[in-house]
Amino acid sequence: MNPKIAIIARVGAHKALAAAGLQPHHTEVYSTPYGDSRPVHWFRQGEIDFVVLSRHGEAGYEISAPFINARANLYALKALGVSKILAWVAPGSLRQEMAPGDLVAPHDVLDEGKGGPHTFYAGVGWGFIRHHPLFCPELRAAMLGALVDVPFTVHDRAVYVATTGPRLETAAEIRKFGLLGGDLVGQTLAPEVFLARELELCYTALTYVVNYAEGLLDRPYAPGVLFEGLATPAEIERVRAVEAAWPELIIRLLPALAGTSRRCPCPRLMERYRLRGDINDDWRTWVR
Ligand code: HPA
Repeated sequence: MNPKIAIIARVGAHKALAAAGLQPHHTEVYSTPYGDSRPVHWFRQGEIDFVVLSRHGEAGYEISAPFINARANLYALKALGVSKILAWVAPGSLRQEMAPGDLVAPHDVLDEGKGGPHTFYAGVGWGFIRHHPLFCPELRAAMLGALVDVPFTVHDRAVYVATTGPRLETAAEIRKFGLLGGDLVGQTLAPEVFLARELELCYTALTYVVNYAEGLLDRPYAPGVLFEGLATPAEIERVRAVEAAWPELIIRLLPALAGTSRRCPCPRLMERYRLRGDINDDWRTWVR
């Protein structure tokens, strides 16, 4: 059976699942018009077929955010028959009440990035797609419903400010993002969520806060340690606890994700172009 659900995770996610007793039964790198995808690991949990792809690397953090080939990854997932994506993301927080180790489900994105490949539709008149609600409402509600009794604080709304990276922000940039209404800051959700919409995929994101953003709290510079002192050892411990629980969270979320009906707008995001006769039923002929 081809998988309908994909988890786009961070680093070596298949190994974390394997350590929790879920072994992938197949792994493959897919070649796409945009280059090779990251390795895609196939799993079966109960009756649910799903795949896992780690954006940043298999063994460690090998690919920084601006060099993730999101087009190749999403093309490969779409080609496998995936229609629902859960993105697992680790941003910084602009709000004291969203603490390191908290789970946050963003509901919107403020794209403050500096460009890079952000569309499948270069050189054609397609892709003028409404981006509200940005995340699949059905998949997002199912995800939040499955998180009601997890042992972590869950925030069900946040504006994620997307930056390019790999550098972290200046304190002035973080102040600006706060004034603009941002709650989280990170480097991976954009353009990934925008590209997923171009392929009519249901996409929702679950983030876990890994640090308070620059300048929010007084944090002396500490060379050579994670985030150079931006996160305290106690905060890092809280973050590690979420990471350790990640396989359990995924196993809990899978039935909820599998249960959505796709009666959301996502399968028809390109409908106007379909009706106009610009695109046909074969999505592979749409992309450029
Ligand atoms: N800024 C940008 N990206 C991030 C951060 C941050 O503070 N933390 C994790 N990813």
